[in-house]
Amino acid sequence: MDRLKVDLGARSYEIIIGSGVLKELGVLLHSLGQASRIMLVTNPTVYDLYGEQLRGGLGVDDKRLVLGMVPDGEEYKTMVQAQRLIDLAVEHHFDRSSLVITLGGGVIGDLGGFVAAIYQRGIDFVQVPTTLLAMVDSSVGGKVAVNHPRAKNMIGAFHQPRLVLIDTTTLYTLSLRDYRSGLAETIKYGIIADRDFFAYLQENAGLINRRDETVLRHAIRRSCEIKAAIVEDDERESGVRAILNLGHTFGHAIETCSGYGAYRHGEAVAMGIVLATRLAHRLNLLDTTDKESILALMDALGLNLPVPKLPPQELLNVMCQDKKVRHGRLRLVLPTAVGRVAIRDDIDPALIAEILCKPD
Ligand SMILES: NC(=O)c1ccc[n+]([C@@H]2O[C@H](COP(=O)([O-])OP(=O)(O)OC[C@H]3O[C@@H](n4cnc5c(N)ncnc54)[C@H](O)[C@@H]3O)[C@@H](O)[C@H]2O)c1
Ligand SMILES: [Zn+2]
Repeated sequence: MDRLKVDLGARSYEIIIGSGVLKELGVLLHSLGQASRIMLVTNPTVYDLYGEQLRGGLGVDDKRLVLGMVPDGEEYKTMVQAQRLIDLAVEHHFDRSSLVITLGGGVIGDLGGFVAAIYQRGIDFVQVPTTLLAMVDSSVGGKVAVNHPRAKNMIGAFHQPRLVLIDTTTLYTLSLRDYRSGLAETIKYGIIADRDFFAYLQENAGLINRRDETVLRHAIRRSCEIKAAIVEDDERESGVRAILNLGHTFGHAIETCSGYGAYRHGEAVAMGIVLATRLAHRLNLLDTTDKESILALMDALGLNLPVPKLPPQELLNVMCQDKKVRHGRLRLVLPTAVGRVAIRDDIDPALIAEILCKPD
C-alpha cells in the first residue's frame, strides 16, 4: 500500500492507498487509540457493496458500532440528515472519544464529516472514500459541509479527518457517470499544478478509460499529493487553496440552475473547466496549443459535455452569490498554461455571459 502524509502539525494525518485495504481498517485504527463508540455513516448503495467487508475488517462488536444510514443522493446532504445523525449519536451516548467513519462518496464524506465537526465541538472521523471524486478530492483537506436549499455547501466547517483509507478495488462498481465525474477533478490537478501529470493522463487516457488499476493508483496518489501540498500551504483557503476551485464557479452555477441532481458534481466541474479554458483563451491568457490540449484530454476521457442551455443572466447571478465572491467581485480561476492558473476578479461579466451563450 502507498502512504502519504498531510502535514498540518497537530492535525496531520495519513492517506493510505491500496488494493483490498478496506479489511485493514481495524488494524490501522489502533494507532488512533480506542474509540468509545463508532458511527458508520454510509448509504444503502455503498453499504450493500462494502458494508460487510468494512465491518469484518473493523472487528468491533455490535454494541460499540452504530449504523448511520443516510438515503443515497446529494439531496440528502442536508441539516435534516445531520440532525438525524446527531440524534443517533446522543441516543447512543457518543462522547468526545467517539469516532465517525464515513464510507461512501463525497456526499457521505461531507455530511458525516460535518456531523463529526460539530458534535460536542468536534470528534474524530475517518474517511473511507468509495468514489473516484471522493478519493482524489473531497476526502482530503478537511472541508465538510451540508447544502442549504438555496446554495450548495453553505453550512460547513474545516475539520480534518484522522485518516483517509482508499481502497482502489471499490472503483470497479462505480457507474461510468460517477467514474468520469471523478476524472474531472483528477484532470483539474494537472491543469492547476502539474504539467507532467497532465501529460501522464494524456498518455494513459485509454488505460484510464479501462480503469487500469496501476494507472489509477498513480493518478489517485498524485492527485492527493497535489491537494495535500496546497492544503498544507493554505488550510483555510485564505489564498492559494482557491486554485482548487478551477471550473467550480461555473460548475456550481450550472448545478444550482439546473436543480440539484441533474448533473454529478464532477460533470458540472468538467463543463466549468471547459468554460474557464475557453474564457482564458478568449482573454489571451492561454495559448491555442494548451487550450486544445485541455479540450482534447477532456474529450478523450468523455468529459467534453454539452453545457445546458440556461439563461446566462441567471447563471451569472448565481455565480455572484457563490462563496468564492470576495467584496462583491466575482473571482475566477483561469488556466494560463497547462500546469498554471491565475485568479482573476476583473473579468467583464458581459464577456462571461458571452462565453456561457456561445462557448465556442
Ligand atoms: N469537501 C470537499 O472538499 C469536496 C470536494 C469536491 C466535492 N465535494 C462534494 O462531493 C459530493 C459529490 O461526491 P461524489 O461525486 O462522490 O457523489 P456521491 O457521494 O453522491 O456518489 C455518487 C454515487 O455513487 C454511489 N457510490 C459510491 N461509491 C460507490 C461504489 N464504490 N460503487 C458503486 N456506487 C458507489 C453513491 O451511492 C452515489 O449514488 C458533492 O456534494 C460535492 O459538493 C466536496
Ligand atoms: Zn469539486
